[in-house]
Amino acid sequence: MPLFPSEFADLLTLKGLRILRGRDPEACGALLRVPPRRFLSLTGVIDVRKAAACRDALEEELRGTLTVMEDPIPPESLLGMTENYSELLPKTVRVRTALLGSRRSRSWRVAERLGLTTLLRSESFGAFAAAVSGRALRRRWGIQVLCYGPGDYTGPHNDHHPEDPEARDGYVDMHITLATPAVAHQWLVYARGGHFSEIASVNTLGGVTVYRLPFWHYTTPLVARPGAEDAARRWVLLGTFLDAPRGR
Ligand SMILES: [Fe+2]
Repeated sequence: MPLFPSEFADLLTLKGLRILRGRDPEACGALLRVPPRRFLSLTGVIDVRKAAACRDALEEELRGTLTVMEDPIPPESLLGMTENYSELLPKTVRVRTALLGSRRSRSWRVAERLGLTTLLRSESFGAFAAAVSGRALRRRWGIQVLCYGPGDYTGPHNDHHPEDPEARDGYVDMHITLATPAVAHQWLVYARGGHFSEIASVNTLGGVTVYRLPFWHYTTPLVARPGAEDAARRWVLLGTFLDAPRGR
């Protein structure tokens, strides 16, 4: 039986519904303002009890199907250096993910049964991203589920895709965070004015973060509350939205 609502709107509070309907002047179009803002963190937009129910369904059903995604620091980035101060670090990451791209994967079958794929493809999920970003977005978008455990992180990267004509001028990501109470902290650090000077907590239950990529950012290692390492996880439900073609 599906445990997730079929529309994202059904998870929203009154504040969330106001944003969805384009009636919250502070949040709507927030990523289009001048000076440009690349990142917005929204709380109080998803009903916390519903968020907890979604998280518990992921914990029970999807957790056993996850795959580790790991790109460590390449040893040659240190040992192969021949010149002082010439270090270069590619994107590093360790996180678990649900493979939703393949219909043959266990993750896909479970996500379908739970109603998770339906929720992430729902009209109101895309409409919410469009409302906050202030842009017309394509009606088809990429979906992903990530799960950070203790020590999982994403190193500095910018999500720029200069080889992809549809994404090279920028695109929008929207993340729904569903953390367990055993998480002590995890932070998003991002650049403004050429420095990694901005920091925002991503340890939320039902928090929504919206990004206008590319820009430099990283996610700090998840830290569990003392003695609660086994239960500390942060689930991220993610949509990646390209801009709608101009003139439509
Ligand atoms: Fe990123």
